Amino acid sequence: MTRIKLRPIRIDDAERCLRWVSDPTVHAFLGLLEPARTLEQERSWIANILTDKEHQSAFVIENEAGDPIGTCGLRGINREFGTALFGIMIGETGLWGQGYGTAATEALLDYAFGELGLDEVRLSCHRENRRALRCYEKAGFRLSSHVPERPQFGREEVRMAIARKEWLALRSGAKPHRDTTRKTRA
Ligand SMILES: CC(C)(COP(=O)(O)OP(=O)(O)OC[C@H]1O[C@@H](n2cnc3c(N)ncnc32)[C@H](O)[C@@H]1OP(=O)(O)O)[C@@H](O)C(=O)NCCC(=O)NCCS
Repeated sequence: MTRIKLRPIRIDDAERCLRWVSDPTVHAFLGLLEPARTLEQERSWIANILTDKEHQSAFVIENEAGDPIGTCGLRGINREFGTALFGIMIGETGLWGQGYGTAATEALLDYAFGELGLDEVRLSCHRENRRALRCYEKAGFRLSSHVPERPQFGREEVRMAIARKEWLALRSGAKPHRDTTRKTRA
């Protein structure tokens, strides 16, 4: 099993984060309206997260050696409805396909359902981002809907979700049983 650690993001992570999101391979599927950002913009993005912990949280993913390899987090945290939106990037592309994305997703779900006590975590993903869809499926997300292409993103999205009771079942040993990757194929 891949061992990762999530640590809260800091302002001094800005340079590294900018390098990651500036890599076209990484930002291709991120859904950022303005992919290339300045260091100042990156710093204020992090500062905004740190001052609005009620609604968002972000973590740096560290590998076994303690090296930062990406980020993940929640935004739109709604305590009243118990929901939040999940996002992730493994910025070190040479490490893709080694289970880090799935391990980080699982760790963030533990935080969302465990520490925050949320009822449902949702996400939106580019329909062609097969690697991400598979990663989410392995972590227990299920397909919730397809969203037709939206003009501002110019792409078709897949929405997925995992409810608290599904997370609890997985933590007690049940395997994810759905093949959302297959279902999303045309
Ligand atoms: C998406 C992302 C987080 C996945 O991280 P990762 O560490 O590569 O994920 P994992 O290794 O845990 O799992 C990837 C799975 O996808 C599979 N996969 C890779 N390419 C695939 C493809 N073209 N079609 C189907 N499955 C694919 C891998 O084989 C692996 O599944 P397996 O363990 O069953 O073999 C990472 O690739 C990333 O940061 N991408 C850029 C940013 C991004 O797209 N973020 C998500 C936005 S919604």
